[in-house]
Amino acid sequence: MSARDFDAWMRDRLAEVERALERWVPADAPAGLGEAMRYGVLDGGKRLRPLLVLAACEALAGAREAALRAAVAVELIHAYSLIHDDMPCMDNDVLRRGKPTVHVKYGEAQAMLAGDAMQALAFEVLTPCGDLLDAPPEAVGVDAALQARLVALLARASGHAGMAGGQAIDLAATGRALDEATLRHMHRCKTGALLQTSVLMGAACGHPGAREWRALADYGAAIGLAFQVVDDILDVTQPSATLGKTAGKDSDANKPTYVSVLGLDAARRHAQELRAAAHAALAASGLADAAALAVLADKVVEREN
Ligand code: IPE
Ligand code: IPE
Ligand code: MG
Ligand code: MG
Ligand code: MG
Repeated sequence: MSARDFDAWMRDRLAEVERALERWVPADAPAGLGEAMRYGVLDGGKRLRPLLVLAACEALAGAREAALRAAVAVELIHAYSLIHDDMPCMDNDVLRRGKPTVHVKYGEAQAMLAGDAMQALAFEVLTPCGDLLDAPPEAVGVDAALQARLVALLARASGHAGMAGGQAIDLAATGRALDEATLRHMHRCKTGALLQTSVLMGAACGHPGAREWRALADYGAAIGLAFQVVDDILDVTQPSATLGKTAGKDSDANKPTYVSVLGLDAARRHAQELRAAAHAALAASGLADAAALAVLADKVVEREN
């Protein structure tokens, strides 16, 4: 896939995801909650997780509406995780996606509630079932068995064995030295799980065989870890203006990272190894049309923010 073809592909998908988020994140939630939710998720972010969902779905010629809903759902979980990650009780950050963080703008209680509501909304978007008060729930638009699979994948990656668990390890590890195995486990949980599940939710929208599923799980694991390794690198190599969030936070807060544990050069080498592992997994998948996934693996490692 040429760079120009990928850019056109990405532009279309990003526009589709923005329209869907705009439609599904309510402006009219009570007492300013909708405004805080929309501030936290609209108009910003690279939308990498939605792009992975859509690319994996397309590689398997999967169901479009289901994939778009999965793309929105995983972005909602991700954006909620960022709102809570930035709160004073966690990383205490004031800048996110180039804007003041949600708790700075709307207060801590509203930020907490916006995250809570976005988590619930993610699962609501994944399970379209008509008007609940008119009739008992019945799947519409997305096959009921697929709805259940998508919920299972997203719940697993968001909760104690995924993002929330990883964030707990991160907080417990602050100020402590970690060995590489524990650091890898923390990164796989707090960041890798949602990225891997983005790929698998997209794949689940098609009809993956066991070989394709295993290969895409390996691809997702490799880019998921690479993503957080690069996040650790960018924290020390890029200015806040490029990142859209405060640079240098990890060493200021004494967080163990791939840079603090391995050093910058070894962290960079490791990111390249993970990129190679992602490409190898795609080759092993036997998928004929995995070009967008291949470019996305490169972007994860080459990005500057
Ligand atoms: C930042 O994620 C938080 C991590 C998991 C490292 P992104 O870098 O994907 O943030 P946005 O969505 O582009 O703002
Ligand atoms: C956050 O990791 C991962 C999440 C689950 C949100 P970081 O704390 O390193 O993310 P940034 O650097 O603030 O975006
Ligand atoms: Mg954090
Ligand atoms: Mg943080
Ligand atoms: Mg970081």
